[in-house]
Amino acid sequence: MQRTHHCNQLRKDHIGQTVTLAGWVNNYRDLGGVRFIDLRDREGVTQIVFHPEAKEAHAVAQKLRREDVITITGACIDREGGENPKLDTGKIEVDCKSIEVLADAETPPFIPDEAEKVGEETRLRYRYIDMRQPRMLNILKTRHRVAKLMRDYYDEQGFYEIETPFLCRSTPEGARDFLVPSRLQAGEFYALPQSPQIFKQICMVGGIEKYFQIARCFRDEDPRADRQAEFTQLDMEMSFVTQEDVIAINEGMVRKVWKEVAGVDIPDPIPHMIYAEAMEKYGSDRPDLRFDMQLIDVTEACTKTDFKVFSGAIAAGGIVKAIRVPGGAKMSRKETDALAEFAKEFGAGGLPTTKIEGGKLATGVAKFLEPITDELIATTGAQDGDLLCFGVDAKPATVHRVLGELRVKLGNDLGLIKEGDWQWVWIVDFPMVEYDDQAGSGGRWKSLHHPFTAPKPEDVDKLDSTDHDTIASIKSNAYDLVLNGSELGGGSIRIHRSDVQGKVFKLLGIDEAEAKAKFGFLLDALSYGAPPHGGIAFGLDRIVMHLCNTTNIRDVIAFPKTQNGADLMTEAPSAVDDVQLKELHLRTVLP
Ligand code: AMO
Repeated sequence: MQRTHHCNQLRKDHIGQTVTLAGWVNNYRDLGGVRFIDLRDREGVTQIVFHPEAKEAHAVAQKLRREDVITITGACIDREGGENPKLDTGKIEVDCKSIEVLADAETPPFIPDEAEKVGEETRLRYRYIDMRQPRMLNILKTRHRVAKLMRDYYDEQGFYEIETPFLCRSTPEGARDFLVPSRLQAGEFYALPQSPQIFKQICMVGGIEKYFQIARCFRDEDPRADRQAEFTQLDMEMSFVTQEDVIAINEGMVRKVWKEVAGVDIPDPIPHMIYAEAMEKYGSDRPDLRFDMQLIDVTEACTKTDFKVFSGAIAAGGIVKAIRVPGGAKMSRKETDALAEFAKEFGAGGLPTTKIEGGKLATGVAKFLEPITDELIATTGAQDGDLLCFGVDAKPATVHRVLGELRVKLGNDLGLIKEGDWQWVWIVDFPMVEYDDQAGSGGRWKSLHHPFTAPKPEDVDKLDSTDHDTIASIKSNAYDLVLNGSELGGGSIRIHRSDVQGKVFKLLGIDEAEAKAKFGFLLDALSYGAPPHGGIAFGLDRIVMHLCNTTNIRDVIAFPKTQNGADLMTEAPSAVDDVQLKELHLRTVLP
């Protein structure tokens, strides 16, 4: 090794020892002819002192610049009086006797200590410099630890880590596929996996019984704060289990990771909430339970007004719900208008609001609601100084989406969220399918989770029904783990019989020929003796985001992509030369 210690290792006990350190020049300064250097490596910083008496070393030190890579040998000495309480190594320094410059550095575009001051684009372009800052090193270390704890946990529980292919047929998880052209089979394409879903199920048919994988997944969708096109799942599957078994074993993993990494105890067991309740009360299947502010159904009261906006929606089969914003009466017109604009982004026609003053409704839509003032106040529990925001639409799903999003925004804006609060919940009893009436002529049924999710045993017979409400009432054994309003993971018990799988494909509008063409291999596999099985996948990136307290997924990925899918460091994606295209039997047609 080129060093005896790392840069966060030397303490008073080491005084008198000769040591060799290596790292980057973090900083330098001169004091009366003596030169001081902060030497930095992955672990921390140690002060090195160069006295003019050590002539050669002192001369080399004069020429050092930030981010040069050096190794030094010298004596660990007491800093007596000159101690730096900000450094773990602040009680000692190394009196340099010899130095070797291992690599010069050009003037860097920014220095690691000041990475937070430069734009993210610059950080991503020079990721190798950005990575040198302690915050990034810590995140990557945490990510490593999380992955290691997961691997150890599933290993202890008897799971095998099995790799599944990147070059696949597409699995329909709902997003767009990334395609890879085949050289050997002209005109044909592989798809990169959106998840290992079908392969892990086939591992169950193959008798593996307990599978897991830290798996890269690819979905060609627009990135968001917690979404990348290329991301990582902790993926698992097991045989001969019920929903409760899968939940229990995975709760154990999450409990271990949070305890070891954050020192946090997770409630045992994590509470369950049924999907219908989450939608009713929070307008979302990933409710943020760190604050209350529930959606309150006021449809009943609103049938008694002739305010067209409300009565019209109700007559068309819709609902009216309210959220009570404590102290919201202080908001200016400009602020409530901004809330309305926000609501419109999620499909609202507008956002009726009213304030409560002196036990009466005031401003906004108050005058239309006068006859039902007392009933509204009683139902919502509104008090003087509050603001009521109404969600109204002929489609209940729109009301839930709008108020669900508004609730989260208000919770954040009004500071209703306690720092360091962790609110866990399993969402269960999802409907198996939902009707999408925008999906072309006449609409169609879509899976809420994916097409391989099993209906609850008592609902299997409903698959033969043609009645809309009967189909809509089919529940599945699917479950999502939600933390602080973010979906950490989702899974289900799967269909393990090919006849049931065939029926579900049919319900989803995948006819026999298409099912055979796309999923023949799965249907075949299921027909050769498939054990009952189920599993889940967690977003590893999202788990690390929570543990590192960041809302930016790019922070937890060593080499992430930007908003438009670019890697700024390597400049991918890029054009390729004609020879490559020709080999792949491709020609590009630019828009
Ligand atoms: P699902 O699509 O719900 O399920 O994904 C599981 C978990 O992966 C994370 N996740 C993402 N993280 C970052 N960027 C993305 N684009 C992204 N998409 C998903 C989320 C999510 O909860 N095969 C099923 C799992 C199963 O049924 O076992 C699946 O992939 O945290």
